[in-house]
Amino acid sequence: MGFYTTVMEEITLYSGLSPTAFFTILAMMVVVYRTVSAMFVSPQDYNKPPVVLARSHPQFDHPQPPRQPVQLGQITDWELRSYDGSDPDKPLLIAIKGQIYDVSSGRNFYGPGGPYAMFAGKECSRALALLSFKPEDINGNLEGLEESELTILDDWEFKFIEKYPKVGQLVPEQRTRQNEVNEQIQDNLDPNECKEETK
Ligand code: HEM
Repeated sequence: MGFYTTVMEEITLYSGLSPTAFFTILAMMVVVYRTVSAMFVSPQDYNKPPVVLARSHPQFDHPQPPRQPVQLGQITDWELRSYDGSDPDKPLLIAIKGQIYDVSSGRNFYGPGGPYAMFAGKECSRALALLSFKPEDINGNLEGLEESELTILDDWEFKFIEKYPKVGQLVPEQRTRQNEVNEQIQDNLDPNECKEETK
């Protein structure tokens, strides 16, 4: 009992606080410390596999290999729109200067809810050149852009070439490979029309 009383007196003497206030503040400091430190991962733990998840989540029991980018060849603006991340089985694509990039590895940026989701499935050259998020700028129209804006676009293009695989090219609606094939089939089915034309 003497020891207890001495400790309490020492706390009051050194901290200037009543023992109740002292322990309340101490407890609050511990809670704050634990809350804040739980928000960070130590550098040593950062690269460790997620052990707890590995036991509880089937995805980690059978890790999926990263999906190989699929070459799409020539597709239209309209077809590109279906690659906006809304279908998790499809890659996430973005076009810059008519070249299509598979940005699936940047799903945090471009996937649904991401800060740059408005660019997914779109040709976004103009928006990147102008550093604009306006829907009316998210297209491939470079008309009226200044030299400095075209330079900004070149920088973006370089970044994408470095970071993401190129998987195709954008073409106007009437020039898709499928349309060309359809046209050839049509020509072959209608030989009279060809004779008419060559006369
Ligand atoms: C307040 C202004 C902005 C801030 C603070 C900001 C911040 C960032 C940060 C921190 C990143 C991640 C960089 C990395 O880890 O590689 C990023 C990426 C990106 N930012 Fe911004 N940003 C801003 C404005 C813009 C604007 C205006 C645009 C274009 C219209 C833009 C387009 C992008 C794109 C496309 C990426 C992703 C690049 C990639 O796929 O690696 N940002 N931004």
